[in-house]
Amino acid sequence: MNNQDIQNQADEPLQLWNNAANDYIQNQMSEYNFHTSVIDQLIGDVKNKEILDAGCGDGQYAKKLAEMGAIVIGIDGSTEMIHRACRNHPHPYITYKVMDLTKPLTLINGSSDIIIAQMVLMDLPEIETCISEFSRILRPDGWLIFSITHPCFFSSDWVMDETGARTYKKVTDYLSVKSESLFFWGKTIHYHRPLSYYFQYLEKNGFSVHSLHEPIPDMKGGEQDPDIMHHFRIPSFMVIKAGMLRG
Ligand SMILES: C[S@@+](CC[C@H](N)C(=O)[O-])C[C@H]1O[C@@H](n2cnc3c(N)ncnc32)[C@H](O)[C@@H]1O
Repeated sequence: MNNQDIQNQADEPLQLWNNAANDYIQNQMSEYNFHTSVIDQLIGDVKNKEILDAGCGDGQYAKKLAEMGAIVIGIDGSTEMIHRACRNHPHPYITYKVMDLTKPLTLINGSSDIIIAQMVLMDLPEIETCISEFSRILRPDGWLIFSITHPCFFSSDWVMDETGARTYKKVTDYLSVKSESLFFWGKTIHYHRPLSYYFQYLEKNGFSVHSLHEPIPDMKGGEQDPDIMHHFRIPSFMVIKAGMLRG
């Protein structure tokens, strides 16, 4: 293997996630995790439900589901994430496995009542394989619930006013399918696809969108934190609940 091969291997998306795992787990910022409460509401009563947590990371959400009585399979393509999940969030109702969502999954047809993929699809170099696999694995009356960074706005820059406050976003190249490097937790790759791209593959694989959500932070305390107020004007995340087309 020459130096270029070694560099290419180090830049493989899943190797980047192995490298990022520690920082990702340490730095999960609760102020950016408000999309999770929408998933909590959509998922409903999970007791005795069989749930696939696709791209489960270190298993924090898988454990929460298991504690509510679900039987969970947590899969992630990063060996490091699954290692952390087994160590940090074990539970008798959870099985963790390393599986790459861009490849066919070794899971049985119609074996899941619910599939969740929280903040995962925009991290995959292609989504065709996993959406097709999700339709195979989901029971006919099951639900696919996934969150992504908001395709309309995530990849565009904020325009600041003279005080440095975020005023609006300049959307320039929305319709292209493209990738960019992110450096939130070391380097990872973000794959931008327009919203219609997601809908096209959902429909192609027999899914019908039941609801679409653009989460905003919970302001229970009534506080007006200037650092989060922009989330009330331009959504950062999107959550979709889809089921199999019936009839
Ligand atoms: C932003 S993290 C989200 C993790 C977790 N769902 C959560 O909400 O904290 C993205 C996850 O997708 C996983 N991932 C990236 N590419 C993947 C692939 N090809 N197959 C499976 N998992 C992948 C990463 O390892 C990482 O755990």
